[in-house]
Amino acid sequence: MDVADLESTGQRLRNVSTSSGSFADVYYDRWKLKVATNAKLVAAQKAIFRATYAADASERGPLWRHGYGDNIDVDKEMYAYVDRAGFRLPDALGDGRFKQLGIKTHVDCCPRSVLGDGASGEAVKRWRPIQCLVALSDTASADCGGFSCAPGFHKSFATHFSLKADQPPVDATGRRTASGAVCHGAFLPLAHDTEVDAAVVHVPIPAGSAVFWDQRLPHRQEQRHNGVEPRSVVYVGFLPPCALNRSYAKMQAKTLQLGVPPPDFLPMNVDSKELDEFAKRLSARGIDNFWDALVRTQSKEQGKKDAEYSLTARERSLLGCAL
Ligand SMILES: [Fe+2]
Repeated sequence: MDVADLESTGQRLRNVSTSSGSFADVYYDRWKLKVATNAKLVAAQKAIFRATYAADASERGPLWRHGYGDNIDVDKEMYAYVDRAGFRLPDALGDGRFKQLGIKTHVDCCPRSVLGDGASGEAVKRWRPIQCLVALSDTASADCGGFSCAPGFHKSFATHFSLKADQPPVDATGRRTASGAVCHGAFLPLAHDTEVDAAVVHVPIPAGSAVFWDQRLPHRQEQRHNGVEPRSVVYVGFLPPCALNRSYAKMQAKTLQLGVPPPDFLPMNVDSKELDEFAKRLSARGIDNFWDALVRTQSKEQGKKDAEYSLTARERSLLGCAL
């Protein structure tokens, strides 16, 4: 796809977008890993954690309660969560032939699992209480495919979903909430919930800004893009240190090495053992590290030094490669 000629090449976006919503399945490009491990973002994320979920257990109150341990020290350890990118073409482009959908109102967590008490009935892979995006384009006006959310909803989340520590899940699987919503893994569609959907508002975001939001905030991509420039965004995230997240980060490092999508984006039945099997098959063909092979190829083709592509020790640590 040529961004200078989207009119002729916009249809190729479908080749890198396998899900509904305006996503591009781009994970490990060097520029993207730089965004995911950016020092300013990491510092901002640590400050948010320290003031919320990582505050002293006796002081943090019910709003920031969690079951992942009382002594979380994000200054010592934290992991970068590799996510997708977002790329949304203007609706009118190509006479509407490339029109994409915006992902509708949802939260990226199952209400029962936010406590980390194991009562969700879901195979929770990681704990990502704060989400983040970095805007590469302006979405200052509404209806340009940008980000919308329900401000302050984290305060009424527990009440809305009848989430109480002493209350059993609504059904045996723990997936169905009291409001009737059904979780799909860590994804809870909420467009049908008129109360929630009506609380979602457009958030104006200038290019170059980072937006952090609590996982309990319902959010969506706007359904229309009436603007003229593509909306582009990098989804990033950070995982505070706990056993679950160390295990996720370790598997994420494995996927990076193998050049396959991160754990959250793999088919559901792929586990760590299967990744090891895949690694063995690659190794038999002389490829021990797909990432290194890619670095060598790109460096050679673009006449750049390996150092520009290679991960620094700080990046390797954030991406779980040191685990
Ligand atoms: Fe989301």
